[in-house]
Amino acid sequence: MSHYVVTGGAGFIGSAIVRSLLREGARKVVVIDNLLTGHERNIEEVRGSVDFQLADIRHYEQIAPLIRGAAVVFHEAAIPSVPRSIDDPVPSHECNIDGTFNVLRAAREGAAGRVVYAASSSAYGDTEVLPKVESMTPRPKSPYALQKLVGEYYCSVFSSVYGLQTVALRYFNVYGPRQDPSSAYSGVLSLFMKAALERKAPAIFGDGGQSRDFTFVEDVAELNLKAARAANVSGNVYNAGNGGRITLNQAWALVQKLEGVEIPARYGPPRRGDVRDSQADTVAAARDLGHAPRFSFEEGMRQTLAWYRGSIAVLSEPRP
Ligand code: UD1
Repeated sequence: MSHYVVTGGAGFIGSAIVRSLLREGARKVVVIDNLLTGHERNIEEVRGSVDFQLADIRHYEQIAPLIRGAAVVFHEAAIPSVPRSIDDPVPSHECNIDGTFNVLRAAREGAAGRVVYAASSSAYGDTEVLPKVESMTPRPKSPYALQKLVGEYYCSVFSSVYGLQTVALRYFNVYGPRQDPSSAYSGVLSLFMKAALERKAPAIFGDGGQSRDFTFVEDVAELNLKAARAANVSGNVYNAGNGGRITLNQAWALVQKLEGVEIPARYGPPRRGDVRDSQADTVAAARDLGHAPRFSFEEGMRQTLAWYRGSIAVLSEPRP
């Protein structure tokens, strides 16, 4: 029986893909995670249905036997965060570039059916035109953006040179339940939720007018499964976003409304390597993959906040 592999399967997005696969009836799901930014608690309720493997994508020999013969590899393992890649570029380079190469090599040598790769909207950088279309020339502004872009190029080269089936999905600021708010490098919405629940002021870097196409994690997980099945897409790159755009000031206003608090944010200088505006053109993903996001920003935020309310005690323990 061939199996599914989710690298980074104990992470925020990876664990959502694991649960989606199981919901769709997958019989064997192998989770590869080194638990650097992932947590076993993210797959707690499905632990009996998955094969959890503590392994590191930086070590080819650890992952190759697990990937051999897989039907699909969802490659989510990475060290995320733009500022983290600026402060400490070596680990993120090794995971995001060398690790991705190892996953692709293992998939090719092990005759895996397909690799669906977690790419990033950060590859676009500050393009003048919005929304951002896949045909635009990338302009990475940070080590992280560049690393994720190199992974995309590697996918498309493995597709054209070796005939490995690959699809890259450029995630646009994914948020939702299980996103870890315990580090300064955490996604901004997770930090906003934590601040609201702790009745503290969140930090906003810059004037708060920067905007993001915040995308709910369940929509991203669903798109991954569609990308695993779609025909005639190998080597391609698709935006995984909603097509909308929300400023940080709007996002904090909504969190305050949902939580029933009024706490002015603390504004500080803009962050290095930051992109000003980000918004996905979703035409290609809808056409080729059947992408159809179901969650409005308000609905996604409602569900996310409800989850944080139930989990904040565990999540408050600090992490590097
Ligand atoms: C980037 C990518 C995203 C990727 C993510 C991985 C872009 C457009 N997006 O997200 O696709 O998944 O990296 O980490 O490049 N901010 C604050 N206060 C905080 C934290 C952040 O104001 O406490 C601001 C940041 O300066 C930024 C925005 O919030 O303007 C979003 O930051 P963050 O959540 O870290 O994600 P991006 O860097 O946009």
